[in-house]
Amino acid sequence: MSKKMRALITGGAGFIGSQVARHFLRAGYGVYLYDSFVIYSVPDPASVQPNFAFRLKDIFPSIHLIRGSTLHKDFLRRTLTEIAPDVIVHMAAMPLPAIAIDYTEEAFQSILNSTLNILEIMRDAQTQARLVYISSSMVYGDFQTPEADEDEHPKNPKDIYGAFKLAGEVVVSTYGRNYGIDFVTCRPSAVYGPTDTNQRVIQKFIQAALHDKPLVLDGDGSMQLDFTYVEDTALAIYLAATTPAASGKVYNVTRGESRSLKDLIEIIRKHVPHTTVVHREAPKYMPVRGSLSIARARRDLGYEPRVSLEEGVRLYVEHLRNNPY
Ligand SMILES: NC(=O)c1ccc[n+]([C@@H]2O[C@H](COP(=O)([O-])OP(=O)(O)OC[C@H]3O[C@@H](n4cnc5c(N)ncnc54)[C@H](O)[C@@H]3O)[C@@H](O)[C@H]2O)c1
Repeated sequence: MSKKMRALITGGAGFIGSQVARHFLRAGYGVYLYDSFVIYSVPDPASVQPNFAFRLKDIFPSIHLIRGSTLHKDFLRRTLTEIAPDVIVHMAAMPLPAIAIDYTEEAFQSILNSTLNILEIMRDAQTQARLVYISSSMVYGDFQTPEADEDEHPKNPKDIYGAFKLAGEVVVSTYGRNYGIDFVTCRPSAVYGPTDTNQRVIQKFIQAALHDKPLVLDGDGSMQLDFTYVEDTALAIYLAATTPAASGKVYNVTRGESRSLKDLIEIIRKHVPHTTVVHREAPKYMPVRGSLSIARARRDLGYEPRVSLEEGVRLYVEHLRNNPY
């Protein structure tokens, strides 16, 4: 009998990684989540642990959960050698542009050194495994066109996080070319849904609305984001990881349709009427964005996002109503 395929997901205990894990489990892979359980902001004791437990509780008996940091190269090498994964999905990274501005050194370690460690280990081992590098739409900076495609649109990150993510892309493709490493790069954007603990805009808005507090809106509400329900992001990443023809390519992995913060607020108001809004100035590091083209992911991966913003907000509101954290 042939060996069961194995997937190792760095940052696999996180918001997106734990959903990617479900796809590999369904496909019959042995699934290894390699995670150092970092918290990036001052933790809210009422929220962090329950979310973490909720992410993993139904899959806990089927996964291998490994406490490990991608910054600890010896332990990482031993783990990779022992497991010999067929796919490594590299999601472990500080995921927050706002935090990376203050904790720049940590962001550099977390995004770049972490990636370099994996690449060096793969180079030495001459592994046949596929590496999926998780980048970000922040690599584009201000959108020059309403829709950004992967190759033609300029990559001019406006902030530190986007700059490190783009540097990681360049390093991954250079190692890929020089050392025969099979890689794919994915660029998610504005992912939302149950168990996010990082206080991104949809989480903040719904939680404020459910607690009868005003929504704090950056700017006038015209800011556009390609909001993507976490299950769609995870599906696209899984497809990129397992489609042979994706080798060496970059994929936008979003819903493919930007919506304004004003739209988002109107959708939230359908579930929580009378929600009020206060305005503050938009942070300067935030690029002006639009939709990411997902034509390539549709064509090569057969990816089709399933959850509209209306449906995703409904699901998330329902989750936060039933799980008050
Ligand atoms: N959520 C989004 O909107 C979004 C958008 C674009 C890109 N991304 C990228 O997707 C990835 C996952 O983001 P997320 O939203 O699931 O964040 P998350 O914080 O929920 O998950 C990140 C996980 O990585 C782990 N981790 C961090 N550093 C590590 C290290 N050195 N070694 C091992 N584990 C480590 C953390 O403990 C955490 O479980 C990140 O690379 C992020 O930059 C996220």
